[in-house]
Amino acid sequence: MTILEIKTFPDIFLSKPTKQIENIDGNIQHLIESMATAMYEAPGVGLAAIQVGHDKSLLVYDIAPRDEKRELQVLINPRIVSSEGTMISEDEGCLSVPDFRSDVKRASQILVEGLDREGKPLRIEAEGLLAVVLQHEIDHLNGTLFIDRISSLKRQMYKRRIQKSLKIK
Ligand code: NI
Repeated sequence: MTILEIKTFPDIFLSKPTKQIENIDGNIQHLIESMATAMYEAPGVGLAAIQVGHDKSLLVYDIAPRDEKRELQVLINPRIVSSEGTMISEDEGCLSVPDFRSDVKRASQILVEGLDREGKPLRIEAEGLLAVVLQHEIDHLNGTLFIDRISSLKRQMYKRRIQKSLKIK
């Protein structure tokens, strides 16, 4: 199986909002497997379908420590139904924003609703790392990158660095 290519900033596809999934069919199951492979290969703790070129409301994640058994989690059509408090997520990064990390302000507790890969309703109460990963990935489904949530000065510095490296190529 060829590994899906992960799109990187400034690819405009990454700022597209995604569509709800109506039928969780074989194509979706195949996409989930391909996304899981790409995420583990990268390696990353989460991946949204939009990052691999599918404008669908689908994400995968696995926050189990690397040396422990993999526990792939799948979330379809997720939305944050409530959030509480604020926290600073330290050194957040993204497979679509290479070579850059930043602190990001996030809600400290969230309640997420969505579907699992069988289409069964899921309700996830999250805090800590899980809350950060879910907010980050659900942002992707709405066309938002974590660099959209940092100071404009820091964002401009990153954009200039990327533009420079694109010119060199
Ligand atoms: Ni990301």
